[in-house]
Amino acid sequence: MFLDKSKNEFKNDVLLGLSDPIQKSIPSKYLYDAVGSELFERITVQPEYYLTRTEIKILDIHANELIKDIPKEIILIELGSGSSKKTKFLFTEIMKKQNQLYYFPIDISFDFLNSVVTNLQKSFSNVIVKGIPDDYINGINHCNNILFENNVEIKSVCRLIIFLGSSIGNFEIGDARNFLKDIRLQIKNGDYLLIGFDLEKDVPLLESAYNDNEGVTSMFNLNLLNRINKELGGNFSIDNFSHHSFYNKDKKRIEMHILSNKKQQVFISSLNKQFYFEKNEAIHTENSYKYSLDDIEGIIKRAGFSMEKEFSDENNWYKLALLKPK
Ligand code: AVI
Repeated sequence: MFLDKSKNEFKNDVLLGLSDPIQKSIPSKYLYDAVGSELFERITVQPEYYLTRTEIKILDIHANELIKDIPKEIILIELGSGSSKKTKFLFTEIMKKQNQLYYFPIDISFDFLNSVVTNLQKSFSNVIVKGIPDDYINGINHCNNILFENNVEIKSVCRLIIFLGSSIGNFEIGDARNFLKDIRLQIKNGDYLLIGFDLEKDVPLLESAYNDNEGVTSMFNLNLLNRINKELGGNFSIDNFSHHSFYNKDKKRIEMHILSNKKQQVFISSLNKQFYFEKNEAIHTENSYKYSLDDIEGIIKRAGFSMEKEFSDENNWYKLALLKPK
């Protein structure tokens, strides 16, 4: 039932996106099938992809400072938990203050969640891990219900919501603001949101992060065509397309595209439709916005938050912001 619904959504989005006469596009969420999620994990350890290791370093150095002034029992809620590998720095620090910890990873991918939950439960015996396979905002609500069922009073604990990895950068600016507003509506005074922003920086640094030497980002991007072939009966020849990503200075974002290497046509059987590509015509597959410090201030203010603490790395490439409701 759920599978059919998501398959239909994929089908409709591909139809809509590839039929646009001005700019073909496919929403970036479809990059993350099982293969795409594995490839993304590989991206995070590429030498050019500074984001993950920089964020981990900031967390490692500042985890203590981050949580030391939170007086209440912390409940950790992670949005888009992925592999939860960064979260362990927070676990260690939180466990110095309290003897058990509820951790709710929320992720739309059920399979991924399951394996993360099993692994975490093995390595941290005092952490009560409850994976929530849902979208983020519903997921937060779901956590409240579970806490209630376990006789945990929301007003006597601090819910620390974390949204790491600069995933906010993959939202359009207005959507990012609305998303933060939605989170704001779910939380009370005394709760916090910890969020990672990738900062504006020299263009060559940015561009090489999305064009790694080993070609993993290219595989990640082109895997979208494999996914269409597998799930929707497409006949894309992957060799006839190329990965292309660049920094768009005006829009302050990395744009990822798939370029057609030649004039060609592709048939997608589940849509019963032929799509035509000119040589060098692009399918836009992802935006990754880079924030200035002013942008960050603006967005958090408008979403109803204020900055409690902020941390950066020695190069000022990345910002971790601890926000509280205004
Ligand atoms: C998940 N997200 C924050 C990554 C980013 O940097 O925008 C996705 C990604 N796309 C290509 N490389 C990494």
